[in-house]
Amino acid sequence: MVHFVIVGILVLVTAILTYVGLDMAGIARHMNPVSASAQSVSIDWLWNWEVITISFLFALIVVPMVYSLIVFRRKQGDNTDAEHVEGNTALEITWTVVPLFIVVIFAYMGAYSLGETLRVDPNATVIKVRAQQFSWTFEYPEYGIVSTELHLPIDQQVVLKMESTDVIHSFWVPEFRVKQDIVPGRVTEYRITPILEGNYKVRCSELCGTSHAYMEAGVIVTTEAEYNAWIAEQVAIAAASQTPEGQGQILTVKNGCAGCHSLDGSAMTGPTWLGLYGSDVELDNGSTVVADDAFIKQSILEPNATIVSGFPSPSVMPPYTFTDEEVANIIAYIKTLK
Ligand code: CUA
Repeated sequence: MVHFVIVGILVLVTAILTYVGLDMAGIARHMNPVSASAQSVSIDWLWNWEVITISFLFALIVVPMVYSLIVFRRKQGDNTDAEHVEGNTALEITWTVVPLFIVVIFAYMGAYSLGETLRVDPNATVIKVRAQQFSWTFEYPEYGIVSTELHLPIDQQVVLKMESTDVIHSFWVPEFRVKQDIVPGRVTEYRITPILEGNYKVRCSELCGTSHAYMEAGVIVTTEAEYNAWIAEQVAIAAASQTPEGQGQILTVKNGCAGCHSLDGSAMTGPTWLGLYGSDVELDNGSTVVADDAFIKQSILEPNATIVSGFPSPSVMPPYTFTDEEVANIIAYIKTLK
């Protein structure tokens, strides 16, 4: 009897120490990474109870085994047979019924947690997600904008409608806990309610090709005000990029034109673009020309054809290759700089 009492106490102590150790390692209640979604709360709650049960079962198996090995080991010179045990019906019923009971409880807890995770908010914002080898694209159909980063407002449910253009990918933000596969030919849904501001990352968690490991995108959770400001900014950019001058501006940004040509009249390596279009330009050969479409086009494609007075000859600008339409767009943008 005294053995049962000692083993019972040792089992309890070991179970508690195991749990505390796992908790300190960030495996039980306070998991790493942080919990950043409403859905993660019930998942972490369920996981915590599983770790408690695992700690107890670990102690229940290991402690009696190690105790028996030490206390009941054969004494030197003792060659007698061990006591013959025929079976124990009460014990067998106990170790069948108790685990069955625990498994049923966990089934209920799992169902509850799943229900919380899938809880539908009818007002959830819809965001379309496109996964492809090896990038993510996020479309906000309400506003007609597309982004390579997923911006989310805090404390509001969003429903991601996810599609793949090629193979199977999987949407996984560890801080949100929930993970969802994206299968070509169908739309899978993913509901999430961020509860913690911060910058996270979505990682593809389905091996999808050579650059699978690099298939990441930023997930930015902000206040609703900051989210709305971002939406407004993106809407403005999307609207501007539809016009010729908007397309032209994007081209000049991509090619780093403003590194040499100021937009505000200040002196840089090349002539400023402010008020350039239609102005009289003095050349280093003493003549004067009007900065019209033909002049600007030639200056972009053949920078050495003419040199503006006061700038180095030969020109330090490399010749650029653009289509006629691109040149026209850049000129349309320069026209706006008055
Ligand atoms: Cu996409 Cu892995």
